[in-house]
Amino acid sequence: MDFQDVVRHRRMVRSFTAAPVPQASVERILRNAVRGPSAGFCQGQAFLVLRGPELPRFWAVAGEAAYPSVRTAPLIIVPLSCKRSYIDQYVQNADEGEDWSDESTWWPVPFWHIDTGMATLLMLLTVVDEGLAACYFGIMPREFEPLRAAFGIPADHAPIGAVAVGYDAGSSRDDYRSRRRPLDEMVHYRHW
Ligand SMILES: Cc1cc2nc3c(=O)[nH]c(=O)nc-3n(C[C@H](O)[C@H](O)[C@H](O)COP(=O)(O)O)c2cc1C
Repeated sequence: MDFQDVVRHRRMVRSFTAAPVPQASVERILRNAVRGPSAGFCQGQAFLVLRGPELPRFWAVAGEAAYPSVRTAPLIIVPLSCKRSYIDQYVQNADEGEDWSDESTWWPVPFWHIDTGMATLLMLLTVVDEGLAACYFGIMPREFEPLRAAFGIPADHAPIGAVAVGYDAGSSRDDYRSRRRPLDEMVHYRHW
């Protein structure tokens, strides 16, 4: 698919058919996810891939933020950020006494989450190119620990949300899109 078509067609789809996602597509989605940029090339990302019997276990502990129809998805990918990877790498170039774990001083914009978000967008674009559909939804803070416990996620990895993937069941475009802000309201050439 032409790149511009991929970008134009990307949207959140919230209802899926029962057809499984081919393994080749799953692998391409994940291979593209790890092609994203990362600060200092830290690559503090991980991806939990859930299908079949794992899905009811996922929905039992997470997914409150998802529309109920998103539960029809045959595949969930949970992108995770590892802050520790960034601290460990940046600390190597730190001056004496600098505490790089202090987010308010060093990480007002946490790079680990930015990079995982970039990886997630690559997944969403690859989904479109594969003829599939997806919805990204948030994981509520209170769902973190039950999700960790259910799938053995290490304590230093934080889910930034979840991506439901499958074939579009013919969901209508939601009316959010009509509220897309005009470009000239958001872009500031030369001065705000
Ligand atoms: C950080 C973030 C959190 C979101 N959380 C949810 C969510 O919890 N549930 C949901 O249905 N959609 C969620 N969305 C999807 C947005 O509602 C959607 O991207 C937006 O309305 C624009 O629509 P489009 O992506 O179809 O163009 C989220 C998107 C982002 C980027």
